[in-house]
Amino acid sequence: MRPVTSSEPIAPHPTLPSFYDDDRDRQRAVNDLFDKGSRDYDRVNGILSFGSGYWYRGEVLRGAGLKEGMRVLDVATGTGPVAAVAREIVTKSGLVVGVDPSGGMLHVAKRKADAEFIRAVGEALPIRDEMFDMLTMGYALRHVSDLRAAFREYRRVLRNGGQLVIMEITMPQSSVGRALLRLYMGTIAPLIARLSTRRRDTARMMRYYWETTESCVPPPVILDALRRAGFDEVRRDVKWGILSEYRGVRR
Ligand SMILES: C[S@@+](CC[C@H](N)C(=O)[O-])C[C@H]1O[C@@H](n2cnc3c(N)ncnc32)[C@H](O)[C@@H]1O
Repeated sequence: MRPVTSSEPIAPHPTLPSFYDDDRDRQRAVNDLFDKGSRDYDRVNGILSFGSGYWYRGEVLRGAGLKEGMRVLDVATGTGPVAAVAREIVTKSGLVVGVDPSGGMLHVAKRKADAEFIRAVGEALPIRDEMFDMLTMGYALRHVSDLRAAFREYRRVLRNGGQLVIMEITMPQSSVGRALLRLYMGTIAPLIARLSTRRRDTARMMRYYWETTESCVPPPVILDALRRAGFDEVRRDVKWGILSEYRGVRR
């Protein structure tokens, strides 16, 4: 295999021809998927969450040291579940800003979470350097175009000592675990999404969720990209074999 040079982009997954043919069209296609699925996302996410709902997100943020008064940037905020939980923890004395490129997802988030929202991608944050105590990203690492560019941006907007917290679903190690996840996320979840919402677009969003999960680069690549972006104390904790928490600190 050709060695990866330090400036080469790291795509989180290969081109997915059933959703877009050309990588230059990827972000537009992804935005379209999430715009169309936005009104059903919360309901369907409940089906998919494997216990990773609001409770789980809150546990992760508290475990990472989020406290009253802190400033949080939630990248790929979607319909705002992480932002809403972060607000509960930081209270009114803190700051919560959510970023997402999908207008449809932000429309739902604005009705739910007490936060400021900005329409943008994680790879190019329209935010000043060293603004935040914590940067969060829930179940969206697969959607950036380049892990290297995204992680550099995340480090840039964190203050010295600030924490990065990424939640993601990872393929299980065992072949039985992988087969079960494939059955659940690849077949059952899109079917339930289709039947419960009667919308083809929502089922398509769920199929994209699965295809990007299945084809995502493995955890060592993500950990290495975090270190190369300059994060310290980089680690990954795994719960129930599939829920990964990636953390790093800006020093
Ligand atoms: C599965 S949703 C995650 C929502 C939420 N964070 C959660 O915890 O449920 C993925 C989100 O990633 C967003 N997204 C897609 N491309 C992105 C990019 N390049 N940068 C940041 N977010 C992106 C989508 O618009 C979508 O809202």
